[in-house]
Amino acid sequence: MVSESNGYFLLSTRSTSLVLSTKFSSHLTLAYYGPRIKSLEEVPSLDVKINFPKGHSVLSSSYSLDALPLMVSTPGRGDYFSPSVVLSSSLGSVYDFRYSRFETLKEIPSSPFPVPHGANEELVLHLLDEKMGAELELHFLVYEESDTLGSYIKINNLSQRELTIHKCASLQLPLLNRDDTFLSLYGNWSNEFSLEEKPLVHGRIENDSLSGASGARHNPLCLLREKGATLNDGSVYSFNLVYSGNHLESVELDSYDDLRLQVGLSSFMLEKKVAPGESFLTPVATLTYSSKGLNGVMDNNHSFVAKSVIRSSFSSKIRPLCYNNWEATSFGFTKGKIVSLMKKAASLGMECFVLDDGWFGARNDDSHGLGDWECNEKKLPGGLKALSGEAAKLGLKFGIWMEPEMVNDDSEVFKEHPDYIIRDNVHSPLRGRNQYSLDLRKKEVQDFVFGAVSNTLESADISYLKWDYNRPMSDFPDFVGNFSYDYILGLYKVLTRLIGKFPDVLFENCASGSSRFDLGMLSFFPQSWLSDDTDSYERERIQAGALLGYPQSVMSNHVSAKTSNQVLRLTSLDAKFDVAAFGVLGYELDLNDLTSLDEKIIKGQVEFYKSHRELCQFGRIYFVQDRTSYDPYVLEATNGKEAVVGTFKGLEKPGNKVSSLRAYGLEDGVYEYSTRVESISLKKFGNLVNYISPIHLKEDGALIDILSRHKDMKSEEDKGLISSSALKGPGAVLSEEWSGLGYNEKTRLLGDFGARLYYLKKKE
Ligand code: DGJ
Repeated sequence: MVSESNGYFLLSTRSTSLVLSTKFSSHLTLAYYGPRIKSLEEVPSLDVKINFPKGHSVLSSSYSLDALPLMVSTPGRGDYFSPSVVLSSSLGSVYDFRYSRFETLKEIPSSPFPVPHGANEELVLHLLDEKMGAELELHFLVYEESDTLGSYIKINNLSQRELTIHKCASLQLPLLNRDDTFLSLYGNWSNEFSLEEKPLVHGRIENDSLSGASGARHNPLCLLREKGATLNDGSVYSFNLVYSGNHLESVELDSYDDLRLQVGLSSFMLEKKVAPGESFLTPVATLTYSSKGLNGVMDNNHSFVAKSVIRSSFSSKIRPLCYNNWEATSFGFTKGKIVSLMKKAASLGMECFVLDDGWFGARNDDSHGLGDWECNEKKLPGGLKALSGEAAKLGLKFGIWMEPEMVNDDSEVFKEHPDYIIRDNVHSPLRGRNQYSLDLRKKEVQDFVFGAVSNTLESADISYLKWDYNRPMSDFPDFVGNFSYDYILGLYKVLTRLIGKFPDVLFENCASGSSRFDLGMLSFFPQSWLSDDTDSYERERIQAGALLGYPQSVMSNHVSAKTSNQVLRLTSLDAKFDVAAFGVLGYELDLNDLTSLDEKIIKGQVEFYKSHRELCQFGRIYFVQDRTSYDPYVLEATNGKEAVVGTFKGLEKPGNKVSSLRAYGLEDGVYEYSTRVESISLKKFGNLVNYISPIHLKEDGALIDILSRHKDMKSEEDKGLISSSALKGPGAVLSEEWSGLGYNEKTRLLGDFGARLYYLKKKE
């Protein structure tokens, strides 16, 4: 809801309000952002009071701009925070924008950037610097249900001179007298979404990407947690950018503890020329607030992404359980091997077979063939058509991997079109994973990419496409403009065409994992491969970080072989499943290597997941115990009447404390709870197995190896009744944990990185 009175603008969502003011000589300031207020009459009580100027300042009227909570700030008129907008023309670089008029729109204007859908209203505030001939349009989108606001800027060049944009944040949020911590997510390949929480310091903290893509180094998501805010209480703010290229989020605290947070395009190499009469547009930044702690703000983010970012046709569409052959075969497969994996996948209950890298051109390793999107029929006689036919016979859907934005130098396409790649005119272009990036700014390259994907999708019965992107950009052809910005607009053009032509294909975003995981890509592709790291302990941390801003329905999680390819850690298939179940489950290990016991275990997992898939993919997520307090980390997915709760342990130590099962978000009532009974390998007991074995078994002996392929121990099973109030309080006390002494079937034996899932259901 948007309303205006006396120079104030009120934007309200279900539980929040943001009030903008034009009272200070028509500069746009923030009067209030927080829990929903009833009317604009309250605003004078909430707005900042300024009666006299601060020392050592320059004045605009009777106050200094530096002291105002400015929603947009430019240099040169007495504001000494880092500006949110920097412009120049032949007249100079000092701009002073004042409010001139507003309009509210019900129809959201079209944009070359993805704009989250379902906004209830859009408020446009026009700010003008008549002397410089420039207008700033500040656009605010209101998403009432998810307590989220969108913000973007359009700059109109009204002058007869060329205007240059050096910086233009989509959002600036000023907050006064703060004591917060700043939460951001850093990482790299296989190690994405590491959460870092740091106290604000006087000065600036920046979170950005310069790699050409949003990047795993610093995801655009960031949060502010007010001092004292906990998992379920207190003020938390969250910000993001609906964009896939270089970005910058910054927070600056001055000596009065006043803060300005900015979200937007990176200003790295930004020098956008705007001709007279033309405009410049930024992508949409998002902000949300909750007084209900981290869980509250996480819920706002999840409902916003699911309802307004993900295309409506996929928002609540159950995702298939995929098998992907990458970790099982890498490039080294034959048709026989693929078909045998398909058969196993179908027999274990999987629903879609995804053929990963290596099916096309001369692609038998990562140095050849990328870009030659013709199926290699020597490797796969009958091509994709025959394979999709085999899948259909087994009742499986068929999916395919592509990396359309890149080529190997050893490829037919590069030989024919060396001018398609990104390169400057001076150096020889650099390779990353033996490949070059295509220059998607060029129309002919956009057409090539569109054509390649389109032809592939039409060549067989393909309902899923994993779109990979495996290197950062380098060798930008020119400085003028902004390479990343133009590239991303080119990419969005191609994606818009493809989605329009293939609306029902499930596209999965991937960039060596999460090297381009953002709200921009999610606007086109409903899910994303989260990380190449499928070790259960690492993955649990990666998922926990990503969950702060993104719902589990967009996270594709695979169970891989027991010994992690990434960190060589051995964990059980069950621990891997327990982690992967919070999201879109898949499998990626060599199914032909499974023992009969493994097959039984996987069948049980698939059955559990299918019976609770809606909860696992779309249930409301709570951190019951967050990753920082750690042992155990507890996650819940609930629909209010049922819940799946996962507990994830770090390192085992003797003398474990009492543990209990707790859960939030359940309706009042009594609940039945039960453990998903897991398989415990006989090998887990080492030489202690001899306490129960009739014959002596050597810890590393062949006999225990053979035995453990067919026989396991079952985990404890906790079950009982408990009310929702007790679940929120002390919880149901679980079976005693293994603590180095004594064992029976009631012992909760977790060991390092052990996990359990519990299912809770309201008793009728
Ligand atoms: C990187 C992806 O993250 C992997 O899952 C796999 O698809 C490989 N690329 C294939 O080259």
